[in-house]
Amino acid sequence: MRIPEDKIEEIRSSVNIVDFISGYVQLKKRGKNYVGLCPFHQEKTPSFTVSEEKQIFHCFGCHAGGNVYKFLMDFKSISFIEAVQEIAEYAGIPLEFENNRNDKDKDLTEELYEINVKAARYFSENLLKSKEGEIARNYFEKRNIKPKTQKIFGLGYALPVWDAFVNFCRENNIDLAKAKKLGLIDAKEGGKFYDKFRGRIIFPIFSPNGRVIAFGGRILEKSDKAAKYLNSPESEIYLKRKSLYGLYHSKEEIRKLDKAILVEGYMDLISLYQYGIKNVVASSGTSLTDDQARLLSRYTKNVVVIFDADAAGQKASMRSIEILLKQDFDVKILALPENEDPDSFVNKFGKEEFEEYLHKAMNFLEYQTSQFEKAGAFDDPKTYAEAIRELVKSAALVNDDLRRNLLIKTIARKFGLREKLIESELDKILEKTKRTTTIRKNRDTVNKPETNLRVTENGIDKRISNVEKELLILLFEGKQDVVKYIFDHISPNEFTNAKIKELAHLVFEGLVEGNVSTAFLISKIEDEKIRNYILTLTLSEEPISSKWADMSFSGDIEKDSLKIAMDAVKKFKLNQIDYKIKIKNNELQKLTDESSIREKLSEIRQLQENKKMLINSVEEKKSID
Ligand code: UTP
Ligand code: MN
Repeated sequence: MRIPEDKIEEIRSSVNIVDFISGYVQLKKRGKNYVGLCPFHQEKTPSFTVSEEKQIFHCFGCHAGGNVYKFLMDFKSISFIEAVQEIAEYAGIPLEFENNRNDKDKDLTEELYEINVKAARYFSENLLKSKEGEIARNYFEKRNIKPKTQKIFGLGYALPVWDAFVNFCRENNIDLAKAKKLGLIDAKEGGKFYDKFRGRIIFPIFSPNGRVIAFGGRILEKSDKAAKYLNSPESEIYLKRKSLYGLYHSKEEIRKLDKAILVEGYMDLISLYQYGIKNVVASSGTSLTDDQARLLSRYTKNVVVIFDADAAGQKASMRSIEILLKQDFDVKILALPENEDPDSFVNKFGKEEFEEYLHKAMNFLEYQTSQFEKAGAFDDPKTYAEAIRELVKSAALVNDDLRRNLLIKTIARKFGLREKLIESELDKILEKTKRTTTIRKNRDTVNKPETNLRVTENGIDKRISNVEKELLILLFEGKQDVVKYIFDHISPNEFTNAKIKELAHLVFEGLVEGNVSTAFLISKIEDEKIRNYILTLTLSEEPISSKWADMSFSGDIEKDSLKIAMDAVKKFKLNQIDYKIKIKNNELQKLTDESSIREKLSEIRQLQENKKMLINSVEEKKSID
């Protein structure tokens, strides 16, 4: 389904984001904004901020943010279209297109979801009812997966023939090309279709919202010819790096316990769940991605990573741990006894034993230290230093200053070393990473607003000038006259920073289309990091730099913004002239013949003249007020 852009805007602007979010989060007024406890991460003091004026929300803790649609999408893990539909209903605005939509113009993704649901039902029926399914039923019995659990996870069985699902598609008017797109079937060279998941038990993979987005299929018997698991390819509805197996089933429990257990396999997750350990997610054999960690962070920041004892498992787990540390998760690590995985462990020893064992989970420093101890690294002065360096390296992954410092203290204490020594080691490591500049910057600029902190991470160049930043804030204030004034004097291309240039173009287009509201513009920024950056800028306590703190405000905010814009535009122009003068001066140094020196000098004089005029015009404007 396609909803016209202006309809989407009409719906959005007809609801008040504060009222809407209040239905989900308890909000209190603080200053101009409303604040509450963030529903997307665990926190004790509110950093979740909603601006009525700008109709946007932003969490200064986990950086969730956007307009009312984004809120509902994130809160319910639903698609954009679903969010628009729900908010249209809330606003009492009918969406006519929905009623007369027919099979033809039905959204492609909707159709893909439908095919997957039909397939999942079909596989499940095979498992429950078919004669051929006997072998799969026996398999699950052998592995102690109860029928009730099979049902909860929608498990199934694909018949061991080449065309069972192809025929099912034909009988049920399922588009074969689309089934192929979803990886359920494939075509031979002659174009003949065949089933991909022949003779495998089927694990549907759900979105956090409970839609079937993909499948995993396991062979019944060990074989050298076929991979143990076959997984659906990526498609419009399945992005591997963004989905976590089991999250749909475990998210409530994870939120409740404020803790998640990360395992590797489908079977591990299902078995633990069946034993009542329900706060589990599975990385499906690969290491966690940034996106998966971000997804998980909506429910908790505490994770126990369970290792399989084998080397491949360890490697994937170490990578996952790095990813989690970088996103400031509190990570614990648990290595299982040799030759066990969570599924075999819980089936052998039961729930109590498993939970008992869970207490052995170590934080990553303890874990790493114990690994080094095992390897005898602390017995030899040479490897000793190397091991400490490795520990500091891990600590360096942690973004949060306070937590990182605590880790440094722990290392110093544990090995009886001076903190300064460890700190200088940390500095050396940070120097090598991109983050150094950011951290250095933090140290130097204690008084600057938080918006400076993440500059290198969001791709906005760290050399962005204060004036450009101020103009950026003004462009996203949602005030048409301010935006118009700025673009009357500065064209988007004049911004020196590439990212800001892009953002300026985006606002400029908004101006042309007649919509510069913050909520609208924010939704147009595709890059998540940039969006966070703008949200932070536009909602920070100190929206305009403290330079203006001493300005006498007239009380009329509209007018003040405009005044600030005038000032910023002039500063921008002055900078431009200064830069030109500097260049010309440099050129001057190199000149030798008198006539070109004279010419250059006159150009410089002209620029200085322009500068003077510009400064005077500032004075004039001020004296008019
Ligand atoms: P494992 O080999 O540990 O399998 O792979 P498992 O989950 O314990 O399954 P059982 O107990 O032998 O039945 C862990 C995970 O890695 C992915 C799957 O998601 C699997 O659950 N994997 C493994 C694949 O995607 N492809 C493979 O060929 C193997
Ligand atoms: Mn297993």
